[in-house]
Amino acid sequence: MKSKIESLKSQALTALKAAKSDSEVRDLEVKYLGRSGQFNEIMKSLKDLSDEDKRTVGKLANVTKGELETAILKKYSELEMVAFDVIADKEWMDVTVPGTKPGVGHRHLISKFIDDLEVVFGRMGFAVAEGPDIETEHYNFDQLNMPEDHPSRDMQDTFWVKNLKRMVLRTHTSGVQIRHMEAHELPVRVISLGKTFRKDSDATHSPMFHQCEGLMVDTDVSIANLKAVMTDALQQIFEDPAIKTRFRTSYFPFVEPGLEVDCTCPICHGEGKLPDGVPCRLCKQCGWLEIAGAGMVHPQVLENVGYDPTKYTGFAFGWGVERVYMMKPNVNIPDLRILYSSELSFIKQF
Ligand code: FA5
Repeated sequence: MKSKIESLKSQALTALKAAKSDSEVRDLEVKYLGRSGQFNEIMKSLKDLSDEDKRTVGKLANVTKGELETAILKKYSELEMVAFDVIADKEWMDVTVPGTKPGVGHRHLISKFIDDLEVVFGRMGFAVAEGPDIETEHYNFDQLNMPEDHPSRDMQDTFWVKNLKRMVLRTHTSGVQIRHMEAHELPVRVISLGKTFRKDSDATHSPMFHQCEGLMVDTDVSIANLKAVMTDALQQIFEDPAIKTRFRTSYFPFVEPGLEVDCTCPICHGEGKLPDGVPCRLCKQCGWLEIAGAGMVHPQVLENVGYDPTKYTGFAFGWGVERVYMMKPNVNIPDLRILYSSELSFIKQF
């Protein structure tokens, strides 16, 4: 019996040594130590031995069984180490290699320019007013002295909102004038910067663009105030104290008189050409740039919002944010639409 136990032990240890996987080890465990395994068979046959043999052979069988259990546990942990080595070989990485920096974006050029404009006008005491991008016909047109069927509505190619009666994507920020005046006591001094929409698309027109609207209403507000504010703002925006403005008569139904504001070209300083005689590309040799629509708030508009037009006067102006941004001497953008094209080679320059 003793030799049988020794031979079983050596058989089991040899098989265990050759095992290559957890499942092979598990099979051996069952074969030798399981309930119907070979060691249990030996234990069962101990009953036929003499008392003396029962003691010695039983002891040997138990010790051997314990040795096999230890050998099996050791084999499991050896196999685990081999598996770790395989993973380490496959998945190692060099932690000393310099990392790749994730690309960091930046705010949109126009968003940054809008911040700059708010600072410029803020310094002159203008607060910021806001209005909705989807506007009622009432605020976008009616209250601005542009009643239904009035030909002035055709000046702005409007996106109408399907299934929402009398709603438009606002064609200009002038509706914010009305919303603000309705909700505030005089005096009023605000700018409003935001998205506007028109059915337009070419190098100087985009279906979505931004406007900067200014409004000042009080006693004794005159065109002289408008001129001072516009000139000061443009000098700050173009960082050039020599910028001059001029006013030409124009027509917008919500102002009277209506004006177009021009300023001297910040590149050629009104000369139409550069010092070396090269024609100015920005103003196309004219020396002046069209900046804004403006005028004195129409008495009818003041009345519409409940202000007394015999006591109060005001000016308003509105300009295209992208157009003015493109006039800055350090900006050279030939097509306005590239600002909204998600063209990375363009965006990454800034
Ligand atoms: C208006 O929208 C008036 N509300 C401005 C105004 C306000 C006048 C207050 C008087 C008093 P106009 O349609 O000209 O005006 O547009 C103003 C500016 O928006 C233009 O000078 C131009 O710079 C810009 N603009 C108009 N359409 C587009 C477009 N599709 N893409 C980019 N800029 C545009």
